[in-house]
Amino acid sequence: MQIMKPTLSLISPSSSTTLLRGKTRLSPYLFTLLVFILFVAILYGEDFMCIFGQQLQSYSYSENSPFSSTTQRVKRENKVPFAVGKGEEGCDVFSGRWVWDELTRPLYEESDCPYIQPQLTCQEHGRPDKDYQHWRWQPHGCDLPQFNASLVLEALRGKKMMFVGDSLNRGQYVSFICLIHQLIPEDAKSMETFDSLTVFTAKEYNATIEFYWAPFLLESNSDNAVIHRISDRIVRKGSINKHGKNWKGVDILVFNTYLWWMTGLKMKTLLGSFDDEEKEIVELSTEDAYRMAMKSMLRWLRLNMDPKKTRVFFTSMSPSHGKSIDWGGEPGGNCYNQTTLIDNTTYWGSDCRKSVMEVIGEVLRKSKVPITFLNITQLSSYRRDAHTSIYKKQWSPLTAEQLANPVSYADCVHWCLPGLQDTWNELLFAKLFYP
Ligand SMILES: *[C@@H]1O[C@H](CO)[C@@H](O)[C@H](O)[C@H]1NC(C)=O
Ligand SMILES: *[C@@H]1O[C@H](CO)[C@@H](O)[C@H](O)[C@H]1NC(C)=O
Ligand SMILES: *[C@@H]1O[C@H](CO)[C@@H](O)[C@H](O)[C@H]1NC(C)=O
Ligand SMILES: *[C@@H]1O[C@H](CO)[C@@H](O)[C@H](O)[C@H]1NC(C)=O
Ligand SMILES: *[C@@H]1O[C@H](CO)[C@@H](O)[C@H](O)[C@H]1NC(C)=O
Repeated sequence: MQIMKPTLSLISPSSSTTLLRGKTRLSPYLFTLLVFILFVAILYGEDFMCIFGQQLQSYSYSENSPFSSTTQRVKRENKVPFAVGKGEEGCDVFSGRWVWDELTRPLYEESDCPYIQPQLTCQEHGRPDKDYQHWRWQPHGCDLPQFNASLVLEALRGKKMMFVGDSLNRGQYVSFICLIHQLIPEDAKSMETFDSLTVFTAKEYNATIEFYWAPFLLESNSDNAVIHRISDRIVRKGSINKHGKNWKGVDILVFNTYLWWMTGLKMKTLLGSFDDEEKEIVELSTEDAYRMAMKSMLRWLRLNMDPKKTRVFFTSMSPSHGKSIDWGGEPGGNCYNQTTLIDNTTYWGSDCRKSVMEVIGEVLRKSKVPITFLNITQLSSYRRDAHTSIYKKQWSPLTAEQLANPVSYADCVHWCLPGLQDTWNELLFAKLFYP
């Protein structure tokens, strides 16, 4: 149970229950007074916030919510950290369409980025087409700003940026490095991995861009960065500091978590510690367990990040394309041999749980810490063509039986680089510098 400042709790959503529970013990006079204050607070919400000064104001300037209507109430006088301009008023950059663009896409060549792990280098592994590299995301209401690597590097001078999450976030991380590394001479950059942490250093900028493996954000039995393929997954309640201690002092944080929660309809949740001899494990619905992790993340942010200096992003679920019947294809197929986009604008695959998206929307909408939502799910759902499929380094040698049936071993979860995830970073760039 966390302790709140009394002034804060008067207007916090969770306080209503506290008030009601306490009312029998309050004198009728005091209770009436409290109700009156609450009434005034609701009526004059904005002015009331000002009375409490800087601390509350700092919460009100950024996108607390994934929904643009609330973003419009934003106080622009308080400059958002890293902002150099404003996004177009009312433009939802996540709502748009894919446009064929052979001239300006891809943003880099696969062979020019040595940091791409062999699980994502599709050309090197024999992918016959390059069409997936030539799509540009065009929002309906505005244009995306051009990704400017030199602006990114200047902004990161003396700073630390970190991506935290699973292999899909690692893909976005690598794409980000690919987008900026060419401005840095060979001997002034390096990339090293230490267990869960991968660190890219831009020496002349005294900047690092890092990836931290934490597929559930909370502690879990899948935390080993190399050996984590565990079928019976367990996540530990209230354990955010286990990983969070490694995120302290970061200036820009980019979180994701989704894939690892998909182990069925329930999630095994550990109440004690992994060291307990008798482990106390309860089964929560996936949605409840996911909500628990998101709330832990927000609590950690409130206690550890200064919203006046830092920025935090949360990337929504990366969709997969494991069942071609979802888009009206032949039964038994998947992303293998797909080279075109899904053109159904309302398409949503069966692998992608709407209920989890609802949890994300709900938790972020209520968040008191500024956190910018990267809503990449819908736009990525159209991209059945962009997965690594069979064109990647395999973990283990394939059997003759598998080789005879490529659909059986196609990876329809991860994405080729260059490709779709460069767009996620263009969106991150847009929200970071033009919020
Ligand atoms: C994410 O973006 C899609 C496409 O614009 C939109 O339909 C959906 O409502 C958004 N989700 C949230 C939680 O904001
Ligand atoms: C990119 O950013 C740099 C540094 O802020 C700036 O000087 C340059 O004009 C920008 N380039 C473009 C094309 O916007
Ligand atoms: C480099 O950046 C770190 C923060 O990441 C800072 O603590 C340190 O003082 C900086 N060093 C120099 C020489 O600027
Ligand atoms: C791949 O798809 C094309 C049609 O788009 C089809 O003609 C071809 O037979 C397919 N190849 C395999 C190996 O399934
Ligand atoms: C478009 O996708 C939606 C959601 O996946 C589906 O319900 C609908 O039938 C699809 N429409 C067409 C024309 O395929």
